[in-house]
This record gives sequence, C-alpha cells and structure tokens, in this order.
Amino acid sequence: MMRLAAAMLLSLNTATAADLQPFKDAGPYVPSPQSVVSDMLRYADVSANDFLIDLGSGDGRIVLTAAKVFGARGFGVEIKEDLVKRANEAAQKEGLADRVKFMKADLFKTDISQATVITMYLLPDTVNMLKEKFLGELRPGTRIVSHDYPLTGWIPEKYVQMDLEDKVQISGVTTTLIYLYIVASRAACASTGTTCRSRT
Ligand SMILES: C[S@@+](CC[C@H](N)C(=O)[O-])C[C@H]1O[C@@H](n2cnc3c(N)ncnc32)[C@H](O)[C@@H]1O
Repeated sequence: MMRLAAAMLLSLNTATAADLQPFKDAGPYVPSPQSVVSDMLRYADVSANDFLIDLGSGDGRIVLTAAKVFGARGFGVEIKEDLVKRANEAAQKEGLADRVKFMKADLFKTDISQATVITMYLLPDTVNMLKEKFLGELRPGTRIVSHDYPLTGWIPEKYVQMDLEDKVQISGVTTTLIYLYIVASRAACASTGTTCRSRT
C-alpha cells in the first residue's frame, strides 16, 4: 500500500504540467462525407510520396482513403477509443495496416513533424489554436487541408465552396468549404505580419 502511494506520488512529480491538463474537446464525431474526403485529398495533391496525418481521425476514412486511392502513408490521432479500434480494424481488413495506423491520443500533444499533409475537420476555435503548433512542428511546404473552417489570417492556396445535401444533417446547411494552406517558414510569416503563406 505504502509502495503504491509512493509510486503515485512519484508519477505525479514526474508528470509534466501538459500531462495533467484535461484534453481539449476539438469537436464531436461527425464524419466528413466521402465526396469531401476525396476532394480534400485531390486538392492537396496527395500521392504515394506523402505522409498524411488526420487530426481527430474519427472512423479513419481520410487516412484510409489516402492510402487506398493515392498510396500515401500516415496516421490518425483520435481521442475516442472505439473509433481508433474501428479505424485500425478497417486498415487490417483493407490490407493497409502496413501503411497506416490509428492512435488514441490528444491531437494537441501529438508530434506532427513527420507530416507532409495535415487534414482536419475540427471546431473553428480549435483550428485556430493549432496555428502555432503548425508553425513550430511542420516543415515549410507541408500542405494543410481544413474542412469547413479557415486558419484566420492565413491566405489559402486554394479555397473551394460547394453545396452538398449530405451536409444538412451535419451542419444544418448545404454549404461546404475546403481550405488548402501551404506552410510557410516562421520567418516568412513574421515578415508578413498576421498573413501567413508560402510562395510570397
Ligand atoms: C468532426 S470529427 C472528424 C472526423 C474525421 N477527421 C473526418 O473528417 O471524417 C472530429 C473528431 O475529432 C476527435 N477529437 C476531438 N477532440 C480531440 C482531441 N483533443 N484529440 C484527438 N481527437 C479529438 C473527435 O472525437 C472526432 O472524432
């Protein structure tokens, strides 16, 4: 008993402040319609050379489609264990498990430096909270595709708006937006103030 209490005290002492914070809910589970997934991957020009990370991966459809259709590798990070299990099972079933995996983790605490493409369908405030993480961890040239919500102050490389009936049950309207950004270096962002893009 004493030893268990001591071990707990020790682990509390060694945990970082970040470990002790409750995770931030970046959005409920609402899957992107498959047609939007295809468009997101097409606009980002995903290929077999890419390593794609989906932040809040739900049932894994974006990473699975990137691997199956475009030959990419990657992973999804998701806070809900049942969705992580479902996505890993789908990867096994479709013969993609050597190229993709899904992890139960907090997206804010996940190392994303390996990505050449980031995808996300998250709440608007969350998307904007990630800007510093993107600039700190992603290499210049990395593509970021966001379903519906923009990175405020960043100029998108492409921006597409369309009407989709499938979206009515998700957001109450047919409007669907896809934003593609290309990460600039921190220096390029600083020199353009709040406006951040590569190739300026
Ligand atoms: C709108 S769904 C998008 C699912 C998938 N990316 C898609 O587009 O089909 C957002 C997902 O993010 C997950 N999520 C929310 N907060 C998270 C966090 N802090 N870390 C990891 N996943 C999170 C939710 O459980 C949910 O499955």
